[in-house]
Amino acid sequence: SKITFHHPGGQTDVLDVEPGTSVMRAAVTHGITGIVGECGGQAMCATCHVYVREPYLEALPAMGEDEDEMLDCTATDRDDTRSRLGCQITITDALTDIEVDLPESQV
Ligand code: FES
Repeated sequence: SKITFHHPGGQTDVLDVEPGTSVMRAAVTHGITGIVGECGGQAMCATCHVYVREPYLEALPAMGEDEDEMLDCTATDRDDTRSRLGCQITITDALTDIEVDLPESQV
């Protein structure tokens, strides 16, 4: 599986990942700048904010209440359709590849 991170400056990072890995965990493990993951994946910090690209939006897991509330606390403005928490997006058989844009800031 593959996660593609698009940085605000235009560079991209592509990671090969195993199913069961979250977008946040993959980024932190591989030292991708632009994702912090301060709370360790509890949907309690909003420092793993990403903007999911089409056509991957449809394959995402449903948004939980905690995630929805945290997304109102992001450092860079929430987008009504594309904003998600990277720690709440896990690579699975239903979502093998994803591309996300990183926000300008996480803190
Ligand atoms: Fe804290 Fe995702 S890592 S909300």
